Amino acid sequence: MRKYIIAGNWKMNKTGAEAIQLVNALVPKVASLKKVDVVICPPFTALSQASEAIKNSNIGLGAQNMYWEDSGAFTGEVSAAMLLNAGCQYVIIGHSERRQFFGETNQTVNKKTQKALAAGLLPIVCVGETLQERQSGVTEKVINVQVVEGLAGINSEEMKKVIIAYEPVWAIGTGVTATPEQAEAVHAFIRGLIEKLYSKNIAAGLRIQYGGSMKAENTEELLNQPDIDGGLIGGASLKADSFLGIIEIANKLSA
Ligand code: PGA
Repeated sequence: MRKYIIAGNWKMNKTGAEAIQLVNALVPKVASLKKVDVVICPPFTALSQASEAIKNSNIGLGAQNMYWEDSGAFTGEVSAAMLLNAGCQYVIIGHSERRQFFGETNQTVNKKTQKALAAGLLPIVCVGETLQERQSGVTEKVINVQVVEGLAGINSEEMKKVIIAYEPVWAIGTGVTATPEQAEAVHAFIRGLIEKLYSKNIAAGLRIQYGGSMKAENTEELLNQPDIDGGLIGGASLKADSFLGIIEIANKLSA
């Protein structure tokens, strides 16, 4: 019932020319894989070129961040309208690297999510615990606060457009993937939380992506979990073959 969504988070990788090259390798191969939503999230500087290259394809475009103001003296920031104009439908919000290195908090995540929704972008809101938090047994507590504060003030109609990405910080870029059981436990917890905050229907329709060293080799066991609805892929999204491997498995599992 929930369509898998596989999104590539390119992070600070690829020039415009490199983006075009990767997209050109993906487009023909993804054309027949219609049972899964495929999204790429290049850096800001490559968005327009990527947008042009995916035209007439079934690949969606997302940005990796945005600012909540419309315009003005905010040096270095990019607005929702700018992202829409560059061809984006999605925007990643509150990635753990933004929280860790660029001072993002649940409050900034909330402002950005509200603005993205108001502007007509589909936010991919990232949550996840650090290794220390997991080891201290506070994973659910941390996720609870991230979800409750990050989504504060978002109404039911808006919530239908939100995608949540669960990315345990200790699994990102480390080669250590959460086990399917570890991931499923948190995904189920998030869905339960959304049911409490919104409704059974909205929780049932919510897509929750897993992120953190996801690759073709572990995609099937992750996606086979009942509450895992796709992936937010970093490293493995930078090459056509490894990204396609994940997309093909998601498509096959939807058959
Ligand atoms: P990774 O990154 O796949 O390289 O672990 C995932 C992410 O940070 O979105």
